[in-house]
Amino acid sequence: MFLIKDAVSFVGREVEIRGWLFNKRSKGKILFLIIRDGSGYIQAVAVKGEVPDSVFEIYDRLGLESSLKVSGIVREDSRAPGGFELTLTNVEPIQFVEDYPIQKKEHGTAFLMEHRHLWLRSKKQRAIHRIRNEVEKAIIDFFHKHCFVRIDTPILTPTAAEGSSTLFSTQYFDIGTAYLAQTGQLYLEAAIQSHGMVYNFGPTFRAEKSKTRRHLTEFWMIEAEEAFFDNDDNMKLQENFISHIIGHILEVCKDELETLERDTGKLEEIIPPFPRIAYDEAVKILQESGKSAEWGDDFGGEDETIISQRFDKPVFIENYPAKIKAFYMKEHPERPELVACSDLIAPEGYGEIIGGSQREDDYDKLLAKIKKIGLPEESYEWYLDLRKFGSIPHSGFGMGLERTVAWICGIQHIREAIPFPRMLYRIYP
Ligand code: 4AD
Ligand code: MG
Repeated sequence: MFLIKDAVSFVGREVEIRGWLFNKRSKGKILFLIIRDGSGYIQAVAVKGEVPDSVFEIYDRLGLESSLKVSGIVREDSRAPGGFELTLTNVEPIQFVEDYPIQKKEHGTAFLMEHRHLWLRSKKQRAIHRIRNEVEKAIIDFFHKHCFVRIDTPILTPTAAEGSSTLFSTQYFDIGTAYLAQTGQLYLEAAIQSHGMVYNFGPTFRAEKSKTRRHLTEFWMIEAEEAFFDNDDNMKLQENFISHIIGHILEVCKDELETLERDTGKLEEIIPPFPRIAYDEAVKILQESGKSAEWGDDFGGEDETIISQRFDKPVFIENYPAKIKAFYMKEHPERPELVACSDLIAPEGYGEIIGGSQREDDYDKLLAKIKKIGLPEESYEWYLDLRKFGSIPHSGFGMGLERTVAWICGIQHIREAIPFPRMLYRIYP
């Protein structure tokens, strides 16, 4: 079967393409049809007298996105986008389309979101999702190369792990309420005691009431958990991980980045080490730039943007106050009001892409924390067991796939970085 991406090996030969009409125009006796087949785009050219007359009749009826079979001879043409053109010999419609809803003009976002099932075919959306596909590959390759074992953690869970305010719940038979996973981390912590280094990669749910360009209610997270790593080792791993992903995309997604008009110079700078600042310093940066930030506040998207503007690379913010972070984070050895953690803030205003920390490995401290914040102790018994039977220092992190893809693609809103976004006000299509 011929695919447009393989045109280079078919020069001078007649091929058949099965695909869709991406665009068309005519100039006197010449017809131009731009065909896409999933693998790429090619312009087919038909000249009156050289093709059956039926081609001209079919052309008139072919609306955008009509499905069709096109035969023609592949020609090398340096002026053609992609470098190849098709001298058309015949067209066979599969389905004539009239009035395709998305036309070659500007449409509003609300309209496009409502037609997401069709919008996915557009050139930019295609580029974004091919980049996402390669980011996923880079993630898996990285962990495989570093001998991490993939552990698929459950989606239906009995407890909260990242705060009870963002839980989606469902009735679970007679047992009671189940929650959609906000993270698989706690399960990965069990798995490191079997494998040492593990990761997961799957859908994650947060009933976020935030209507921002960085929040989804269903997103994909990649989480790693590392036995015997302290938070410093954890950050080094994250730097290498991020630069591996960026390097892969720069190598294999040149066309897609060009379609998105991404300034790749900015991505080329993403090499370790990444700058690190303390939470205390981040608060000062905000105060200096006129924000009314106080020690103890959590940072919002706007705050992260202000901080990240000082750096060309992603920046780690380290050691947040314990009271604004999750219960499982390890107390800072010198300052018990802090935890040994870091958030990685992407440049160019894309906000937090990774949250990571060293985990509390002391049974008594963890139990005291669970009690202090009023979590149901019996639900965390299994998790506490991990601190009873061979407890070790360990760390881990979670990276949001869509935020990372949005940053790499240079797109404004996270909703385009996932095929069918779920947000506060959207679950259709
Ligand atoms: O910082 P978070 O909440 O960390 C965790 O869930 C840890 N259990 C991870 C770990 O240590 N294993 O989330 C991690 C990342 C964020 O940095 C962000 O990129 C992404 O997940 N994220 C979201 N992405 C889109 N929409 C949301 N509502 C998100 N919430 C978090
Ligand atoms: Mg976080």
